[in-house]
Amino acid sequence: MRRLLLLVQFLISLTVFVSAQTTVRVIPKPQSVQEGKGVFTISSTTTLSVPDVLKKGAIQLKNYIVPAMGYDLAITSKPKGKNEIEFRIDKSLKQLGEEGYQLKITPVMICLSAYGEKGIFWGIQTIRQLLPEQVHRAAKVNGVAWELPCLSIEDNPRFKWRGLMLDCSRTFISKKEVKKYIEAMSYFKMNVLHLHLTDDQGWRIEIKKYPELTRIASRFRPSYNEPEENQGFYSQEDMKEIIGFAADRNVEIVPEIEMPGHSYEVFAALPQLSCKGDTARIHPWTKGAGIHNEIFCAGNDQTFEFLENMLDEITTLFPSQYVHIGGDEAPKAHWKTCAKCQKRIKDLGLKDENELQSWFVKRIEKYLNGKGKKLIGWDEIMDGGLSKSATVMYWRNWDKSVAQKIPFIENDIVMTPTSHCYFDYAYEKISTEKMYSFNPVFNQEKPEVNKNILGVQANFWSHLDRTSPRIDRQLFPRLLALAEVGWTNSDHKNWGDFEVRLQSELKILEIMGIYYHGKN
Ligand code: ACM
Ligand code: ZN
Repeated sequence: MRRLLLLVQFLISLTVFVSAQTTVRVIPKPQSVQEGKGVFTISSTTTLSVPDVLKKGAIQLKNYIVPAMGYDLAITSKPKGKNEIEFRIDKSLKQLGEEGYQLKITPVMICLSAYGEKGIFWGIQTIRQLLPEQVHRAAKVNGVAWELPCLSIEDNPRFKWRGLMLDCSRTFISKKEVKKYIEAMSYFKMNVLHLHLTDDQGWRIEIKKYPELTRIASRFRPSYNEPEENQGFYSQEDMKEIIGFAADRNVEIVPEIEMPGHSYEVFAALPQLSCKGDTARIHPWTKGAGIHNEIFCAGNDQTFEFLENMLDEITTLFPSQYVHIGGDEAPKAHWKTCAKCQKRIKDLGLKDENELQSWFVKRIEKYLNGKGKKLIGWDEIMDGGLSKSATVMYWRNWDKSVAQKIPFIENDIVMTPTSHCYFDYAYEKISTEKMYSFNPVFNQEKPEVNKNILGVQANFWSHLDRTSPRIDRQLFPRLLALAEVGWTNSDHKNWGDFEVRLQSELKILEIMGIYYHGKN
């Protein structure tokens, strides 16, 4: 009998624990939540009270929520202390950082405070998540009480890089689709969209000095019968529109231009820049070599003239402080037999082709630094030696040996290992739960060895899943797990609790017109 009583007590405590954990339906889970009693209800007389500097944020919140409510909300600069949503810049919240925010909801009003505008924008996403799910509908919904639970949240991100990479080269991803992903990312407080703009299957960004790149290398030959939407490129005007759309949502676009390998498509337009000088004939990924031996000739000064001219346009177009230069999977076979490359190795006293790549990367880094930018590249850029100022995107498999080796490098690192972060892989290999379990640090007990880790990123390669619904399913719901890995402190994460919150957010993805794995 006593045992039964204990069991009942245990089950009751479990229910209380689970419900306490799950009532606040927010992903990523805020760092600190104190639940209160009652609700605040938004009605047609509720005002948005904001100082002038935050008016843009007030308009954003309004645009997100009023279509479903069916009435407008007045914006004012004069707080009235009740029936309002007030935004405040509060410099005393500096300890929460520029992305942190504080949200207080009482039956009388909502107060959202932050050290800066970024924090206010993330707080707005929390407000959206706390409202009934119908708020995401684009047209008026009748019969819903627009209530938010009373609570007090203090929140800021664990990592400053919470990213997604989209491969727009293997398969072109339209401007409309890219915006859809930016919108979803920002709703889950993710802040870096890395666009893989060039690779063997296509050059996707207009370079005014070299129009032949997009004229020739953004389309396959008609005999491949490729769907029209899988081909093409972003004009610089398109890209400015994407960058502006992203910046309005706290998302930074990091451009990637691959070099010295994964650059076969360049040699369709500019064959003279490869070691052999042959004209490339680009093909869809499934119709030819996965990795081509053609590679930029490191011994040819024309290569650097091209790269520098092209990077001049990239660095002017993209406001991000980072330019990603790829650097992965660069086969050295042609460098080994190329007279110009071998002369370069000899003249510079380099040991081998790995050191030649290292010299190549350092030369490009110097050029980018001169433009006020930072170089980031896939982890192979470390192989022949790397300057300390470059940032490494770690992609190769994550295991104990890596965890022991990498902490001793001094470079900044973004974690994107194939073991957890490759969203082109099947869910059988990387389930949402496996993604959620990832702790992107070297040693939990020794914070000093983790200090160079900027954050975490999901990579989506578009070799095989090439239509919008299929890309959606590869990304969702894993991306929500990654968002929480990047934002929420690890001791505060809990898979069971996440799963419950996820169920609500899946309904919202459906309203947003996003497919996800496991259902639709
Ligand atoms: C990569 O997956 N080759 C970065
Ligand atoms: Zn060469």
